[in-house]
Amino acid sequence: MSSAAAQGLGPGEVAASSGADLASSTLAAKISVTPSGGGVAFEGVTVAYKGNTVLSDFTLTVRPGEIMAVIGPSGSGKTTVLRAIAGFVRPVSGRLCAGGRDVTDLPPRARGIGMVVQNYALFPHMRVADNVAFGLRARRAPEHTVRAEVEAALSMVGMSSFASRYPRELSGGQQQRVAIARALAIRPELLLLDEPLSALDAQIRQSMLEELARLHRSLPALTVLYVTHDQTEALTLADRIAILRDGKLVALGPSRELYQRPPNRFAAEFLGRANLLSVILDTPEAGEDNATVRFGATQLRARARAGIAASTSCLLCIRPHDLSLTAREPGANSLAARVREVRWKGELHDIALEAEGQALRLTTAPLRRPPEPGTMLSLYFSAADATLIPES
Ligand SMILES: Nc1ncnc2c1ncn2[C@@H]1O[C@H](COP(=O)(O)OP(=O)(O)OP(=O)(O)O)[C@@H](O)[C@H]1O
Ligand SMILES: [Mg+2]
Repeated sequence: MSSAAAQGLGPGEVAASSGADLASSTLAAKISVTPSGGGVAFEGVTVAYKGNTVLSDFTLTVRPGEIMAVIGPSGSGKTTVLRAIAGFVRPVSGRLCAGGRDVTDLPPRARGIGMVVQNYALFPHMRVADNVAFGLRARRAPEHTVRAEVEAALSMVGMSSFASRYPRELSGGQQQRVAIARALAIRPELLLLDEPLSALDAQIRQSMLEELARLHRSLPALTVLYVTHDQTEALTLADRIAILRDGKLVALGPSRELYQRPPNRFAAEFLGRANLLSVILDTPEAGEDNATVRFGATQLRARARAGIAASTSCLLCIRPHDLSLTAREPGANSLAARVREVRWKGELHDIALEAEGQALRLTTAPLRRPPEPGTMLSLYFSAADATLIPES
């Protein structure tokens, strides 16, 4: 039982008043929280607005304590996923479970999962402590409990000394920490985060990411559904990543595996830069890294993938940093390429090349003597870093 429930607090939405009350802060975070039995399941969930399907047959299980990132381009249905589990939009079909219970037909307040829906930012007319207390007071928690929980939540995000400030007296990153404290104050088991860092600049985003990771280590039972369109945030923070495209789940897997072995072109390109070479699969059989493919006249070894038949054309995905100018291992793949352009980017050299009429990109630690455009080079890569992807 959650501490909120233990205190006899009814479930309910903290409806955060009207939009006009909301801070016109730069933060674009929406954070909602539900205390429940941890994990979440979407089973064949379809959501439509005025007959227009925006989430289609969506199936996803988030394990208790897991951080699941939901990523995808703008309009792909990410917020809709959160709205569905939060109960703010009713699926036209499918089932939603939270904490092991079917909550599909329950309105938000009756789901028994006590929900806090937070809005873009903090209430500007309330001090930090009152902002954080909001969900507890809405649940009519006794004032001594409110004080203790607010203190605990603020301390979790390192904001204890800011309790009496107004949101306008805080930096963007500090406001964001308070928003997270506000979500955590009711001791949720499920935290829904919708683009929580999108309004922060790159450096603060990085440190907030580290803080979120630390926070999760201190609350290992907290299940997190983290919506972002930033693949770096997802890769840094999430145990697993679900990729949405046009309302459909197109890829799902442990973050690292999805990055290293994307199942399709969309996932490969969405999760980072990728060289996608057109190749013909010769032999798919004989062990993990032993598929052979033809790239023009060059034969290469790659990781096999079920479902691609011999002699068919497919794509070979190699991340730019997995290509190198020297062989890193005996028997590495090699191919000849001509240098097109060399760009120095401080931490790395980014080299554009062409091989067999196809464009390639290689990134490497800065070179003392970068190659000249027009030079022919040998590029090397391991079969383990070359993933086959179906062409379509
Ligand atoms: N209340 C609504 N009425 C009608 N259409 C809506 C409504 N809310 C969202 N949509 C549509 O549903 C689709 C998915 O929207 P959603 O907000 O889930 O996307 P998103 O992936 O969160 O995008 P973003 O990255 O821009 O936040 C979009 O095409 C959007 O226009
Ligand atoms: Mg959204």
